[in-house]
Amino acid sequence: MVKKYLMTPGPTPVPAAVAAAQTAEMVSHRGREFHELYQYVAATLRDVFGTKHEVYLLTGSGTCAMEAAVANLLSPGEKVLVVRSGHFGNRWAEILKEYGAMVKTIDVEWGRAVNPKLVAERLAEDTENEIRAVFATFVDTSTGAVTDVEEIGRMVNETNALFVVDAVSGLGATDYRMDEWYVDVTLSASQKSFMSPPGIAFLALSPKAWKVCERAKCPRYYWDLRKYRQWAERFETPYTPAVATVRALATALELMMEEGLPNIYARHERLARATRAGVTALGLRLFAINPANVLTVVRPPDEIGADDLRDHIARNYGVYLAGGQGQLKDRVIRIAHMGFVGPFDVVHAITALEMGLVDKGIVLELGTGAAAAEEILKEL
Ligand SMILES: Cc1ncc(COP(=O)(O)O)c(C=O)c1O
Repeated sequence: MVKKYLMTPGPTPVPAAVAAAQTAEMVSHRGREFHELYQYVAATLRDVFGTKHEVYLLTGSGTCAMEAAVANLLSPGEKVLVVRSGHFGNRWAEILKEYGAMVKTIDVEWGRAVNPKLVAERLAEDTENEIRAVFATFVDTSTGAVTDVEEIGRMVNETNALFVVDAVSGLGATDYRMDEWYVDVTLSASQKSFMSPPGIAFLALSPKAWKVCERAKCPRYYWDLRKYRQWAERFETPYTPAVATVRALATALELMMEEGLPNIYARHERLARATRAGVTALGLRLFAINPANVLTVVRPPDEIGADDLRDHIARNYGVYLAGGQGQLKDRVIRIAHMGFVGPFDVVHAITALEMGLVDKGIVLELGTGAAAAEEILKEL
């Protein structure tokens, strides 16, 4: 047996109490026990989102909340602007095209974050106010780069357009303020920084977004957010939710509140710094110019295939790292440090990489990467 260490950016490791919460006796989603769960989860998520608006629970993964946002905000033929800075920016464009939007993009070199001024310029060129919404990704998990949501929000807020942010990656581990940053729609999901199994997505809408939602003409049934708003008044969802996952999420949120959001953010910042120090000491290059605190994307040495190295590490050392997506397939390794993670998760990842590199013939003194990471981890 090789003991497994899950270090992929979703699903992420789940604490024992969260896993156990799923196995509790089933309850009706129309009964008092569920109402209490729903109330707690929705109210606590509001704090994490940094919003006073209602947060709605959808049964599905992050993409389901992305599609729900599109279906509820758009009428076919409308013009939208997508900040395409990675695989998940691409996903926005794909969904929007399926729903008949006229998609304009700002194509950002992968690994970089968009310059918010570019967004402002594109909006200023739109003298007829045709751009209905700007779609962006907080942390594109394919590149590990963070978008300056705050700055873009300020710029979009000066126009009639909505600002829609995929915060599937980053929310719950990094400071995020939906209302203060003028974000009209924020969405995320249970399986990354929320330390929960996959299955529940969540999103919140500003009053400006609700106005658009009322008149949007794209077809929507299961994801019709107007129904979610009605049912939320009695702490329910319109259709049967993934009750066991909601229960797990409630337990995870309790753990998060016990730790406190500022402490969670500080923990992720330190783990990210340690990971970056460790991989850099190993001679690996960081892919993102402005790296996020939830994952580190690295390029292996040119002579080694990223997927081959990853497979070797998983098979021999049990450490599961993620591979590249889209144009980065087989070119990078993604090390997640989000959610239920501590100092020794970083040490596992760095040590496994170090051993894998040596196994593949790279000349390195064992312990180099781990020592660099430990220097930062011992700041605790
Ligand atoms: C930034 C981002 N957006 C969207 C998604 C899609 O989420 P899901 O796979 O849960 O549908 C992911 C998943 O990795 C993601 O990282």
